[in-house]
Amino acid sequence: WRQLSLFGLLALVLTGCGRDELSALKPSGPVAAMQFDLMKLSSAIMIGVFIVVMLIFTYVLIRYRKRPGQQGIPKQVEGNHALEILWTVIPFLLLIIMAIPTVTTGFALHKEYPKEEAVQVKVTAHQFWWEFEYPDLGVATAQDLVLPVGKKVQFVLSASDVKHAFWIPALGGKIDTNPGQENKLWLQADKTGIYYGKCAELCGASHALMDFKVEVMEQADFDTWVANMKGVQAKEPVTATSPLAAEGQQIFDKSCLGCHAVAGKGGKMGPNLTNFADRERVAGIKAHTPENLAEWLKDPQKMKPGNKMPNLNLDDKQVKALVEYMETLSVSEKK
Ligand code: CUA
Repeated sequence: WRQLSLFGLLALVLTGCGRDELSALKPSGPVAAMQFDLMKLSSAIMIGVFIVVMLIFTYVLIRYRKRPGQQGIPKQVEGNHALEILWTVIPFLLLIIMAIPTVTTGFALHKEYPKEEAVQVKVTAHQFWWEFEYPDLGVATAQDLVLPVGKKVQFVLSASDVKHAFWIPALGGKIDTNPGQENKLWLQADKTGIYYGKCAELCGASHALMDFKVEVMEQADFDTWVANMKGVQAKEPVTATSPLAAEGQQIFDKSCLGCHAVAGKGGKMGPNLTNFADRERVAGIKAHTPENLAEWLKDPQKMKPGNKMPNLNLDDKQVKALVEYMETLSVSEKK
């Protein structure tokens, strides 16, 4: 009983590990569904083999146990052609049963879709953030991937520094992003909503913090988002809405624009911040609040160790101004 309750506790702890939005067991698109089917098939075969082996094992254990009065070792059996053929053929057949859908799914997943059939998204992984560019639409963003529902998305993936891996458990994946090489993957989301993605390849101190969000919306909303992004990019960078924000913008233009782009102006070393105020999280991991943003700006290494952002050594007043300005960087009509 003690072992049983221990086992129950372990099972409880393990189920506590899984967050729904990061579960590969709840597929929300065709790719994830195909991968889930493969998982189910191989699990079913493995469980079946385990049960059969355990039944035979238990039978042999009981049937050939040492009985009272038995002396010496029992009669030894050397070789049995029928049995040997049987336990060679059965695994062979099981492997074939797994191999056929695995190979066909593999081909289906590696199909490449041209821009007439799929939204093209260029993904570049960095230590420790994600860059998303839509070459055909002329927009770029970071950390929050925005996609239309029910449409194929063709990803072309690479990395700027070390190997990372792109994975959105509910939609499918994962695939390595390698520096100097382009990997391809297509996905599709069948339901609107929020999904989450993760880096799935150990890439440095903040590998575990290299999360991203995926927002899947109706095609019309997606088109609006693209138009808004382009509208902001076409204009001169946002003009500050208050004296404090104006002060923040001065600091931003001087200290941040070298690495971060806003509205088509600025560097590409760090995440594009055109629509920063619309993002759900700060640094991809913390809730988007002015307090968390201030904490990040004061000491970026504390929140995400090993990232490339230098400490700007800002005083509290400068941080406040910068936060005020950054919260105006929005393309959403709701704000
Ligand atoms: Cu990037 Cu792990």
